Amino acid sequence: MVGTGGISRTTAGDLHQTENLDLVAVASRTIDNAAEFAAEFEVPRAYGDYDALFDDDDVDVVYIGTPIATHADLARRALLAGKHVLVEKAFTTTAAEARSLAALAAERGRFLMEAMWMRFNPAFRRMLDEVSAGAIGDVRTVQAGFGIPFPPSWNIWRPELGGGALLDMGVYPLTLAHLMLGPPEIIRATGELRRDGLDVTASVFLRYGEGRFAQALTSLAGFVNPVATVGGTEGFIAFDQPFMSADSFRVETPPDGEPRTVTVPLEGAGYVPMFRAVGEAIAEGRLEHPWRPLAETIAVLETMDEVRRQLTGDPRRRGRG
Ligand SMILES: NC(=O)c1ccc[n+]([C@@H]2O[C@H](COP(=O)([O-])OP(=O)(O)OC[C@H]3O[C@@H](n4cnc5c(N)ncnc54)[C@H](OP(=O)(O)O)[C@@H]3O)[C@@H](O)[C@H]2O)c1
Repeated sequence: MVGTGGISRTTAGDLHQTENLDLVAVASRTIDNAAEFAAEFEVPRAYGDYDALFDDDDVDVVYIGTPIATHADLARRALLAGKHVLVEKAFTTTAAEARSLAALAAERGRFLMEAMWMRFNPAFRRMLDEVSAGAIGDVRTVQAGFGIPFPPSWNIWRPELGGGALLDMGVYPLTLAHLMLGPPEIIRATGELRRDGLDVTASVFLRYGEGRFAQALTSLAGFVNPVATVGGTEGFIAFDQPFMSADSFRVETPPDGEPRTVTVPLEGAGYVPMFRAVGEAIAEGRLEHPWRPLAETIAVLETMDEVRRQLTGDPRRRGRG
């Protein structure tokens, strides 16, 4: 585990619960933080230097839970040291960085994946099964959002660390859109940038032809309810809870069908199924997981590149803050 911040504290317990992985070491930029984290979360070894962990022969897989702008370089160093790598979302700040990491992992024969835990959640997988089985007909629409006004001291407000609403939170609605409808034909984005270029809000419309579209909203200025709806020709599926970590959803087929609620519990804090899947894929000698292939991560990053290009291109969208 690399980094001792918020996500590492959230996922350490789930790593302990994952029966095919052992949490053997943690690395921080300071040995004091690493030692404190190791004591609190019962991690056998603590390093005050990320490269020391990459050089540990007992470590097979590195989980990178640091700010987004640091992901590409740390993942590259871990791959060069011969490790398999799981990288927190958003995988990198640009699609170009992701393509270069994907090429390196393939060249070195190492597993590489974005930690898109939503895709592995049991309720989310059941939703995909329902859609494949035709529960709502052909998918035509996706509507999803996620926004939290995090305190100004948080790293999400620091552009040099890969902050901004889009990469950190917008990645979820856009990943849902890509999973249900694929890469869009047309992208239209509007939103507000801070004077230093940090994206504070984004409203994204993706068009696919044949009446299909997705709408994704994100904001650091205020809450955006993290619910989602997938609409089809015969009905719709609604996540009334945060869709990335939901344990249930509703299937509606108006006008005659009775609404049906499907419930599938989370495991641990929600990350166990993803960690288990990573362990299984590596044990099977796979270099990617079929549920989160690098091509899909790269496609979402291409959409986010274009969204930020459109936001940056219009000076009227710059705020005063
Ligand atoms: N999957 C999820 O549910 C979820 C939830 C929240 C966040 N995330 C993702 O997890 C990643 C980390 O987010 P977070 O909220 O955990 O961040 P955070 O609390 O700010 O922690 C990031 C950690 O990264 C390390 N780090 C390395 N270089 C750094 C730098 N230049 N400045 C600051 N810290 C640096 C620090 O650990 P050391 O001091 O120990 O080196 C720090 O504690 C992001 O990619 C985020 O999108 C995922």
